[in-house]
Amino acid sequence: MGARMAANMIGSGRALLLYNRTRARAELLAAGNAAVAETPAEVGERTDHVFLMLTGPAAIDAVLWGEQGLLAGHCRCRIVVNMSTVPPAYNRQLAEKLKERGIILVEALVSGSTEAAAAGSLVLLAGGDEEALQQVKPALASMGSKIMICGGLGRASSMKMVINLLLAIFTGALGEAVTLGEKCGFSAAEVVDTIFAGPIDWGFFEAKAAMLREDAFPAGFPIKHMCKDLGFLRQTGDEVEARLPLAQAVATLYEEAMAEGLSELDFAAVKKIFHQ
Ligand SMILES: NC(=O)c1ccc[n+]([C@@H]2O[C@H](COP(=O)([O-])OP(=O)(O)OC[C@H]3O[C@@H](n4cnc5c(N)ncnc54)[C@H](OP(=O)(O)O)[C@@H]3O)[C@@H](O)[C@H]2O)c1
Repeated sequence: MGARMAANMIGSGRALLLYNRTRARAELLAAGNAAVAETPAEVGERTDHVFLMLTGPAAIDAVLWGEQGLLAGHCRCRIVVNMSTVPPAYNRQLAEKLKERGIILVEALVSGSTEAAAAGSLVLLAGGDEEALQQVKPALASMGSKIMICGGLGRASSMKMVINLLLAIFTGALGEAVTLGEKCGFSAAEVVDTIFAGPIDWGFFEAKAAMLREDAFPAGFPIKHMCKDLGFLRQTGDEVEARLPLAQAVATLYEEAMAEGLSELDFAAVKKIFHQ
């Protein structure tokens, strides 16, 4: 996701200093106005605005507070935009810690997968300090087609929990329904074509329908990340005392898929476990 998003920022004429743990991935983007930093500390020393697109809290902590982390050197960065999917409580704590260093945290989580990231058509769920958000908005606009302003810090990540809960449930439901069709003697293609001929012709499922028809699940959003996010959103549900029985039920399915070695496949591959 990060590479595709960075490519669109570069394409919009921005000068970028890139850092990725596996340097070779960042180097693929290096040309013209885009250079590669040796360490996150170097990024902090040379840039005002930093955009993070990382797996989750552990990766962010390593990049920010590690030995060569963003804050290890003479960090001149004033705004950090966290685009990674994390629970709202994490972003709130992170904002407090960064504030002590004079840095403002902005949230800009993304809705949409690798195709939308490549096309620059992500929907961005943004929030936090309004002035800081205004400053980074042009950069955000180069990565997404829509910016939804969700309000104070923690609200954008809360909204992302809502979206991913629906994605987890719908995709699990699709896998279960198609499997029932197959057990009744239809091919996956027949079931999918019939589902999509009717009122459940949801745009989101188009990409998943192709995967189900072909029984091939190259990852857009991998099962391991859906498991991570189901953990985050259930934790969030506990914090706000929301009952999430479906989240609990589908989490079991995606965890089973992980245990079956499907972690790197797209989360639509959760369908595979219904055949066992
Ligand atoms: N994929 C999607 O469709 C999608 C959609 C919406 C939101 N998201 C969210 O966007 C974020 C990124 O997703 P992705 O699909 O791009 O994940 P990804 O392909 O697994 O990339 C994760 C990135 O984090 C880095 N990273 C992981 N652990 C690290 C550590 N300990 N220290 C330093 N860097 C570390 C990786 O570096 P290396 O290259 O060195 O491994 C890589 O750059 C996640 O929060 C995900 O939930 C993903």
